[in-house]
Amino acid sequence: MNIIKVGVIGTGFIGKAHIEGIRRVPGLEVWAVAEQNREQLEKSVKELSIPRGYNNYTDLIEDPEIQSVHICVPNNLHYRIAKAALLAGKHVVCEKPLAVTTSEANELASLASDRALVTAVHYNLRFYPVIRYARDLIKQGKLGRFFTVHGSYLQDWLLLETDYNWRLESGSGGKSRAFADIGTHWIDMISFITGKEIVKVFSEMKTLHPERKRPKKEISTFSNSKMDLENEYESIPIDTEDMAVILFEFRDNTIGNLIVNQMAAGRKNRLAFEIYGEKCSISWNSEVPDELNIGYRDKPNEVFFRDPSVINNQTFNYTDLPASHNEGFSDAIKKFNEEFYSFVRHPDLFTERKPDFATFKEGALEVKLCDKVVESSKSKMWIKL
Ligand SMILES: NC(=O)c1ccc[n+]([C@@H]2O[C@H](COP(=O)([O-])OP(=O)(O)OC[C@H]3O[C@@H](n4cnc5c(N)ncnc54)[C@H](O)[C@@H]3O)[C@@H](O)[C@H]2O)c1
Repeated sequence: MNIIKVGVIGTGFIGKAHIEGIRRVPGLEVWAVAEQNREQLEKSVKELSIPRGYNNYTDLIEDPEIQSVHICVPNNLHYRIAKAALLAGKHVVCEKPLAVTTSEANELASLASDRALVTAVHYNLRFYPVIRYARDLIKQGKLGRFFTVHGSYLQDWLLLETDYNWRLESGSGGKSRAFADIGTHWIDMISFITGKEIVKVFSEMKTLHPERKRPKKEISTFSNSKMDLENEYESIPIDTEDMAVILFEFRDNTIGNLIVNQMAAGRKNRLAFEIYGEKCSISWNSEVPDELNIGYRDKPNEVFFRDPSVINNQTFNYTDLPASHNEGFSDAIKKFNEEFYSFVRHPDLFTERKPDFATFKEGALEVKLCDKVVESSKSKMWIKL
């Protein structure tokens, strides 16, 4: 098997997760990283044993050895880096959201469709095995006609006014924060499972800390050091939402709602959904990723527990470990890479089936949805997509 050399741009939280996920797939090599923070670049190259390190992403994109680029930097940089990588003839995996404006996202989707390159937005949560099982149940008609879809994506890492990150600033993260950052993961997962398309939205967004305290010097995450509020922080006005409540309607008139909240004390990173159909309901949450609850009106409810020895054949391809050896976040990233690189190696697969990863076209729809959610919150009206 020939080795595909991959470059990863950004070595923060998710950049490191990409590096690990790429390395778990045979035939791939993390050939280079690009990182603007020189100290972190040196640390990543040394500790992760990466052959080449660049302080500038353009140098990585120009490296002729590299066939494929993963973009793992703040949202406002996705557009320009993805565009440069596509124009240089590289396959591209871009972190979500694809861009911070609909016009940029549409331009990337159209650039991608004009080229014989494989592109994906890293909506990795689709790749939990139980999510694919849920999708199969729906495809097989096990739920019958749908009535409603509900859910939430809750975190608490931005609860305190001293919690700070580049995502809070619209210049880096885009004009939507909580919805763009985690809400689009939920919508992508629901669209993937149900195959349904949202056609209108109504939303209410709230910023509970209109000002936050930004540390004047960099502090490491989870640091317990006591800091002097007056002297060591500066007050920054916040123009992105801490939470959003969204009502939506699919093309077939099924309705639903979603709450996203990055100030939900005790909820670290919990995505949950419930889908109610005429024959049964299904529900899942990411804290218990190997279980799917199936609810009935006329017989006892069931818990489907992931077990490759009894799972249906289609889903079996997406699970590696025996039952009770939980498969979670990192495994979903590995599965994403297996799917993405099977299309890179065998482009004729596109003629056989639709890839399971989100394409740039789907990523652009999520960005459009962000714009409409923000528009609805401002106008207090239902907005059509
Ligand atoms: N799919 C997921 O589950 C998931 C999870 C977390 C983050 N993300 C996405 O990944 C992206 C990065 O988020 P993160 O949490 O890893 O952020 P982070 O702050 O932990 O890491 C970002 C890294 O990019 C580097 N960087 C910034 N500008 C750069 C440039 N011009 N060139 C090279 N490197 C640069 C920073 O120095 C930092 O190391 C965001 O778009 C976010 O939405 C996705």
